[in-house]
Amino acid sequence: MIFNYPNWSTIHHEHWSSIIEERLNTNDRLLSIEVGCFEGRSTLWFADKLLKHPQSILHCIDSWEGGEEVARVKLNYDMERVASNFLKNIQQHPRVDQISVMRTSSQKGLIDLAFIHCNEADFIYLDGSHTQKDTLIDLVLALNLIKVGGIIIVDDYMNGMSTNNKLLRPKEAVDFVVQTFDDAVDFFTTPEKQAVIIRNK
Ligand SMILES: C[S@@+](CC[C@H](N)C(=O)[O-])C[C@H]1O[C@@H](n2cnc3c(N)ncnc32)[C@H](O)[C@@H]1O
Repeated sequence: MIFNYPNWSTIHHEHWSSIIEERLNTNDRLLSIEVGCFEGRSTLWFADKLLKHPQSILHCIDSWEGGEEVARVKLNYDMERVASNFLKNIQQHPRVDQISVMRTSSQKGLIDLAFIHCNEADFIYLDGSHTQKDTLIDLVLALNLIKVGGIIIVDDYMNGMSTNNKLLRPKEAVDFVVQTFDDAVDFFTTPEKQAVIIRNK
């Protein structure tokens, strides 16, 4: 595998395992969606875990433009190299045929999937833009796709809490959506501060 940039994924694997194993039968046919795939570290982990059934699918949505963090913090990432690493990495996976790559914005990708998969997704991982506005829209679109009993995980729930820029904080957006959906969702956070939303009706 080729990785040239930071690893944001491994620290979460243990928590993802327990959340998924408690709620999904990973031998079943599963529909999963990942927003924000970068070089594919998280994607490869999800592929191992969620693509055991030959008809399971993992849709990967990423603009490979880096999002607001790359622009704001002026991170020097060559996003074409990141995209190329992602494609090479998933090609090494034995279930690459079950991975669909959508190079587009999270909003367009999630809306496109809603035409065919409303209320059908078993698992959605949101790790694209962490601005409040984008988090709000991505999470509402994800709730439109997730099935009853399905799991949505949102990365960096506590991001930006020490900054003055309220608009960069995903937490308020997640809390607003969770309160709005009220008794239709269960909510908790992982020890690594990811938000977990389970649709219960
Ligand atoms: C932190 S990285 C994802 C890390 C990856 N999940 C992992 O654990 O290795 C964020 C990714 O989200 C993508 N991204 C940011 N904003 C986006 C948006 N609005 N739509 C689609 N992709 C976006 C970026 O291009 C980048 O590849």
